[in-house]
Order: sequence, then structure tokens, then C-alpha cells
Amino acid sequence: MPRILVTGATGQIGAELTLALRERHGADHVIAAGHRREPSGNLAHTGLYVSLDVRDAAALDALVPEQGVTVIYHLAALLSAVAEEQPLHAWDINMSGLLNVLESARKYGCQVFFPSSIAAFGPDTPPFDTPQDTVQHPSTIYGITKVTGELLCDYYHRRYGVDARGVRYPGLISNQVLPGGGTTDYAVDIFYAAVKQRHYDCFLRAGTQLDMMYMPDAIQAAIQLMETDANRLTHRNGFNVTAMSFTPAQLAAEIQRHLPDFTIGYAIDPLRQAIADSWPRHMDDSAARYEWGWQPRYDLAAMVTDMLRHITAKLRNE
Ligand code: SER
Repeated sequence: MPRILVTGATGQIGAELTLALRERHGADHVIAAGHRREPSGNLAHTGLYVSLDVRDAAALDALVPEQGVTVIYHLAALLSAVAEEQPLHAWDINMSGLLNVLESARKYGCQVFFPSSIAAFGPDTPPFDTPQDTVQHPSTIYGITKVTGELLCDYYHRRYGVDARGVRYPGLISNQVLPGGGTTDYAVDIFYAAVKQRHYDCFLRAGTQLDMMYMPDAIQAAIQLMETDANRLTHRNGFNVTAMSFTPAQLAAEIQRHLPDFTIGYAIDPLRQAIADSWPRHMDDSAARYEWGWQPRYDLAAMVTDMLRHITAKLRNE
């Protein structure tokens, strides 16, 4: 039975991944570690929660053997837009955090999951059908930490045999914990605004196409990759994964099918627009499909139906 540590467990992915792993392996086998946000809802009540700054190597090195951790899902990181505002801080959290995790994993023989991102690509990457192995010259500090992270994970595997694996997530849409400081956050914010006031002012231009995924698929991707027989893997880190690819205008049109009086306006944020413009439009994720059976369940229509149902219920209960 694995003993799992989730860093960044209070974040957008971590909160849902921790609960999914607790369902799968038993609450006692999954330790949630958070730092910047307070644990909400079931997170603190269903199993062990510890406060951990991933930059604190000594604390991590004590926790891993003390709790007998065998698998680390390392999600603690700053997202793209907020990282541009504090590049040194972003480097510190994203890189020191990952190095500390990889070092603990090396010493104590843990498996590691590291989420990379579409941000690991840049303006000179082919934007359509972006290949698995292609040019990676990101123009954001966040993207630079993600490429470096992919390389470090591969290095720790090659050099020390650490079983590090990961995917390149697209924008993630979810209804439990809000993302914070990302460029794709509009695709979450729009649902709250649509249900509450039937209008949303989008910070990206109407035609900005980006890859996206609904959170249940993102959770499934992480768990499935980590449980795949290593012999099937040619790549290990930075697997392209996507489920849908749309523009703000297309997302708004899909929401209007459910809420005909919903309207969208545009108040462009130049920082986030420039970041989005440097990312691919649609990745080719055939390597993930071939090597470990990646198969998303939610397309745009199914995601919008489910999001509106959840957000409506959530806001009604508030
Ligand atoms: N969703 C992330 C962001 O917008 C990309 O990894 O920063």
C-alpha cells in the first residue's frame, strides 16, 4: 500500500487530488501538505494535514521518513501571471520546492509526480498539433521553471533512478478551489460570473484559443500515469495532455446554450494576453494516449453542463 504525500494540497488541483487519492487508498494513507491557504471542506477532516513550506528542505526530509512516504505528488507552485509579478519568488518556490522534493525522493526512494504545463512552450513552438518533443523556449518565468522541472525530473531518473513522472497540463477548469494567478483562470471565473450576474468581462481576447481540461480528467491523468507499468513508458515527464481547445467566445457561446441571457465583454489584461499568446493553441497528446492510455472523458459541452450544475448548487448553498 503506498503512503502518499500531496504538496500544494490546498490548491486548485491538490484539494481534489488529495480527496480522490484518499478514496482510492484510504484516508490514512494520504497526507495533505499546504502552506499559503487554509485547508477547506473535507481536506482537513478526512485525514492528516500538515503545514509545510516546500522550500524548507529539513522539514520535508523529516516528514518523509517519519510518515513512511513512498509517493509524492508535488503540486505546490506559483502560477503564470502571479509569477511574472514576482519572478525571483516564483523561481524560489517552484525550483527550490521541486529540488527539495527530488532530493527527499532520492534519499528515501519515493516516486514523484510533477505537473508541467502548456507554459513549458513558447512563441517559437508549433502552436497547432504541438508535438510531444519540440522546441521549448518559454518567455515566462513560470514556463522556465516548468521546462527546468521537466529536465530535473528526467535527470533524477537517469542519474539516481528516481521514478519521477509528469504531464503538461493545459488550463484546468474546476469548481471546488479557485485557481490563483493563472492565465487560464478566466475559464473558471466565467462560470461564477455567469451564474451570479449573467455577465463576464474576460481578460483575454475573444479569439484566444488554448487547450483546456476539466478537473476530473486532470486527476485521472495524474493517477493513471503514476500507476502505469514503467516498462510502457518511453517518455516519463512532460507528457502533453489535453481534453478540449477553445476560445473565450466559444466558451461563452456554450454557456449561452444553458443561460441565454448571459453576455460576455472584454477588458484585456496585457500581461495575461501576452502570456496566452506565447502558448500553443492545441497540443498533440498522442504519446500519452499511446504510452499509458490517456483518454479524457469531458469535452466542452459535457464540462459546461457539469460546471453550471455544480456552481449553481454551490452558490445556492452560500
Ligand atoms: N493554468 C496555468 C496558468 O494559467 C498554466 O499552467 O498559469
